[in-house]
Amino acid sequence: MKRSVLASLTLIAGLGAGTALAEPQAEVLHWWTSGGEARAVQTLMDEFQSNGGKWVDMPVAGGGGDAAMQALRARVLSGNAPTAVQLKGPSIQEWYEEGVLADLSGVGKVEKWDLLLPAAIAGHMKCGGKYCAAPVNVHRVNWIWANTAVLARAGVSIPTSWDEFNTAAVKLKALGITPLAHGGQAWQDATVFESVVLGIGGPAFYRKALVDLDPAALNSATMVKVFDQMRTLRGFVDSNFSGREWNLATAMVINGEAAFQIMGDWAKGEFTAAGKTPGKDYQCNPTPGAGFLYNVDSFAMFKVSGADREAGQKLLAKLIVGENFQKTFNLAKGSIPARLGTPLGEFDYCARRSAYDMDVAASSGTLLPSYAHGMALRGQQAGAITDLVTQHFNSDMSSAQAAKSLADAVANSR
Ligand code: GAL
Repeated sequence: MKRSVLASLTLIAGLGAGTALAEPQAEVLHWWTSGGEARAVQTLMDEFQSNGGKWVDMPVAGGGGDAAMQALRARVLSGNAPTAVQLKGPSIQEWYEEGVLADLSGVGKVEKWDLLLPAAIAGHMKCGGKYCAAPVNVHRVNWIWANTAVLARAGVSIPTSWDEFNTAAVKLKALGITPLAHGGQAWQDATVFESVVLGIGGPAFYRKALVDLDPAALNSATMVKVFDQMRTLRGFVDSNFSGREWNLATAMVINGEAAFQIMGDWAKGEFTAAGKTPGKDYQCNPTPGAGFLYNVDSFAMFKVSGADREAGQKLLAKLIVGENFQKTFNLAKGSIPARLGTPLGEFDYCARRSAYDMDVAASSGTLLPSYAHGMALRGQQAGAITDLVTQHFNSDMSSAQAAKSLADAVANSR
């Protein structure tokens, strides 16, 4: 009796200490700082906090995440990695190879991620066969956004081919309207470029060129045509585009200063944050051509010490794949849930179209990873392509020279 009271007391004391120690905590590194992105990340912060977690925010501004990835490198090198990091695609593997990622297979098992995630997405989240990241969404990259009233005023409709796009843009320009809202940053040039590669070359060409890095596809007549179209597009952006953030380009479409933007559906998060309605105030359509370029955002957890931080990682990972988060986050973010079977009843037609097109693409072999958003290639190879694309866009380099230099740059980056 005496012993069992003592044992219970020890157990209670132990539990108490354990609970006090393991107050879930997470320092979260992300680059979601635009209006729509901030609304989306707030949903995660709210859910984490309402489940007892302590959130330490580490936002690093800069669309596409280049600055955030630099900040991450500095933190890991100084031996002080953040608890949770917005990380995706092959870069998850690159960090895993450095030996700095935490193992999430325990959470994945308890939460049955193998049953809840499509195999292709789960594949990106595993390191050496074990879960090391949790997916928040699926963004489609190859969208063209349009201001409905501007198109009506100019008497142009949504282009279904690149030639139609060019004709519409010439008409808009003659009316003094900026045809294409664009921000002059390398990753934005790359975002437009990959949609043009898909549209002009088709899905099989895209795969050969930007996934398999086939030298013959990189330096081909088709690639020359792609660069021709990039040069034409350069003529449709306003003169102040240099350095502009993507969300300010989206604002130009929202405000009617520009007609179109070619951007992933995080742009929809900006329209949503501005209270705009798809189909009425603005239009969402895939860029001309077939295929679906996907970009899955995810969080990887870094190896940290301390029960609080480990508990924070587990809680965060669990919530991220949860049904509630997958809905609330993606409603704000513009993307669609990564979790299978999440009801889309509250989502708009752009999201439903994205989900439908993704299914069709998956069954027809045209579901392709975005190179510009870090889903297809390792950092060095993607960087070599983007450098060349942006160099071409901002110079008078010929298309033939660009195609040749592209193949050379990729060869040198291997
Ligand atoms: C992408 C990211 C999106 C969005 C965008 C602009 O790379 O996957 O979630 O944040 O950058 O910042």
